[in-house]
Amino acid sequence: MVIISAKKLLMWEKKQLLKGGDKKSLNLLIDLLGGLSKKEFNFLKIKPEKKVELKINLELLEYFWEKHLNSSIPIQYLGGISYWRDLKLEVSSKVLIPRPETEILVDIISERFKNKSKKITFVDLGTGSGAIGIALALLNPKWDGLATDIDKNAIEIASRNFTKISNQSNLKFYLGNWWNPLINFKGEIDLAVANPPYIPLKTYEELPKEVKKFEPRIALMGGEDGLEHIKEIVRYAPSYLKEKGLLLIENHFDQGDRVKELFLENKFTSVKVLKDFSGIGRFTIGRYK
Ligand SMILES: C[S@@+](CC[C@H](N)C(=O)[O-])C[C@H]1O[C@@H](n2cnc3c(N)ncnc32)[C@H](O)[C@@H]1O
Repeated sequence: MVIISAKKLLMWEKKQLLKGGDKKSLNLLIDLLGGLSKKEFNFLKIKPEKKVELKINLELLEYFWEKHLNSSIPIQYLGGISYWRDLKLEVSSKVLIPRPETEILVDIISERFKNKSKKITFVDLGTGSGAIGIALALLNPKWDGLATDIDKNAIEIASRNFTKISNQSNLKFYLGNWWNPLINFKGEIDLAVANPPYIPLKTYEELPKEVKKFEPRIALMGGEDGLEHIKEIVRYAPSYLKEKGLLLIENHFDQGDRVKELFLENKFTSVKVLKDFSGIGRFTIGRYK
């Protein structure tokens, strides 16, 4: 721990912003690496005479800030943590940094399953850091969750996140390709949710450096048309879902109509494309028969 004056930290912040970058990112760095939350930092502005405690000294914090500015590495990877909904999740460059729009998936599900006392089995396909599965398991302690990912590192990080955040045991983790590890749960799933890799190859090649260089390709790229994984998930869903089970998938901004067709081709009913914060048809939901 390092103790410095608030005034010194505020002057340090000003100096760092002159080098480039934005205030939001610098505040996140001070939070994730320095251990001082944005709320605590803002409070210092009216109490500059206060002393503050930081986890690392300003020289080291400056080193990380310059590393971010020079290489575009996301602050979340530098700090090994990402905030998502009300969760503080461990992340590394082996998993996607969970995105704000994905938070809506959890709200859509909460809206559909208002009766919290009903026990259901749900699946989070391609769990990454565990974000969706963990949020659902915590909100619904009576539910049984199964989370899969093809990447061993993701499964390790996700299960560590669940153990650290909660003392519940209603979420289990499975390594493997989409539905494959769930062979013993055929016909037993009430709800399946997925935020699969859906970015078309060409779009992927043009992604900003901070995404393409640091986030795992396997978490983002969905083949030539972006639909490779979505097609597989929808095609095999009927074998795993119960009758009237729900499938909810996040898709790329322009894939809504095509994903809806895929659901209909696979005998899903009541299929809808739902919008994200920007009014984009980002989520497709349907009931199996
Ligand atoms: C877009 S990321 C989503 C991660 C997390 N669910 C989230 O929303 O932040 C897609 C995830 O799918 C996983 N994935 C990619 N191909 C897969 C496959 N064939 N089977 C299972 N998981 C896969 C990736 O490893 C990655 O964790």
